[in-house]
Amino acid sequence: MTSTVTQHRLDLNPVRAVRGLVPVPGDKSISHRYVMLGSIAQGVTSVTHLSPGADVAATVACMRALGVRIDETGPGALTIHGRGRGGLRASPTPIDAANSGTTMRLLAGILAACPFSTTMIGDASLSKRPMRRIIEPLSVMGGSIEATDGHAPLIIRGGRLRPITWESKVASAQVKSAIMLAGLVPPGVTTIVEPLATRDHSERAFPAFGLSVRTSAPPDGSLSPPSGPVTVSVEGGQEAQAPGRTLDVPGDPSSAAVWAAAAAGLPGSSVELTGVCLNPHRLGFIRALERMGAAVTITVDDEVAGEKVGRIRVGHGQHLDATILPDEVPSLIDELPVLAARAALGGRLEVSGASELRVKESDRITALVTGFRAMGVTAEERPDGFVIDGSKRPSGGTADAASDHRLVMAFTLVALGSTGPSTVTDAGAVAVSYPAFAEDLRRLTE
Ligand code: S3P
Repeated sequence: MTSTVTQHRLDLNPVRAVRGLVPVPGDKSISHRYVMLGSIAQGVTSVTHLSPGADVAATVACMRALGVRIDETGPGALTIHGRGRGGLRASPTPIDAANSGTTMRLLAGILAACPFSTTMIGDASLSKRPMRRIIEPLSVMGGSIEATDGHAPLIIRGGRLRPITWESKVASAQVKSAIMLAGLVPPGVTTIVEPLATRDHSERAFPAFGLSVRTSAPPDGSLSPPSGPVTVSVEGGQEAQAPGRTLDVPGDPSSAAVWAAAAAGLPGSSVELTGVCLNPHRLGFIRALERMGAAVTITVDDEVAGEKVGRIRVGHGQHLDATILPDEVPSLIDELPVLAARAALGGRLEVSGASELRVKESDRITALVTGFRAMGVTAEERPDGFVIDGSKRPSGGTADAASDHRLVMAFTLVALGSTGPSTVTDAGAVAVSYPAFAEDLRRLTE
């Protein structure tokens, strides 16, 4: 059983430059966490500037199906009427995570401790993505999760959990967060050791809901992430409480990255991205763009629920050769497709240690390299990465985005810098994180 995605195509012409200001849409990762935490909290949580994409809509629909009253109070604004984790109810029908890995994996961590059974389905892409990474730790904790060869649909029979110490083989914030959410219930301390530090939005969101977390890498106010393994612990027996103030979701760095990469790649360009979440674990793309020759300035304006928020200005500088090494990958994993597109417009980029790209919404190594070649880019596939040679300007062509939002944006960027027209097919998935993508593109290229 799978859910469905709509399809459509984007026809694109080359442009000279991108110029202007973009207030970026709300961050997808933080939006999921606020909706889920608000749903298991005691009290009313108000959230504004929520991610407008289909992924977060899937989380909202799942929480409603589990009995939580969630009212839409305006565009991107929700009021969540939480009645504690005990207020969740069995859904009579399967709940649908659609295209969203974060919905399925984090929610599994909540449902593993709920005294009822839930079937969770996803679309064709999500049904191919690996779920053993959460099934294993949640099963060791005492939850029962049935899957088909490690894939959705998942049948989650919640049970009495016990705390664990889990050394995750993959550096995944989704795995870490699923275990943290489950670990809030059983008495004792649940600890997760991640091989490399991943985005710490859960660690920053938990305290906003009155939940304590211990981490070996507490936020230190800098814009650089910690390096090496990180340990995160939560104490069981904690019940989330509504924050008592509105949570305003900061802008999505992954959406900002698209325009940042476009400005870096197209001579004469300059963009300003406003209201962007400046979480250090999400800014690897800035460091990479700088090494590739871009001129970047970051200004911190605010802090919301532990997340710094500010402006990123990017101007075209030079086209330099660059390398992205494995340690850096978690801080720019979702931005690798647009960084590859930036490299296709000049310079050379070599990426290794990124085999996780193969289990994203598509196999982002094969699909990216195939699409780039169809647009006249010299690109080489590696088992754990790719090499892009941007020494000759792309011709443009027809690239298949394989229903993957990040590929729609990457192929669009290549199209903007090509010599001829291009078409991106199967491009409807851009609405997963950035429904206004085509509109913002028009504004920046007018
Ligand atoms: C996410 C974590 C990352 C990222 C995904 C969102 C999150 O995935 O790629 O887009 O919100 O926790 P992994 O946990 O699989 O690395």
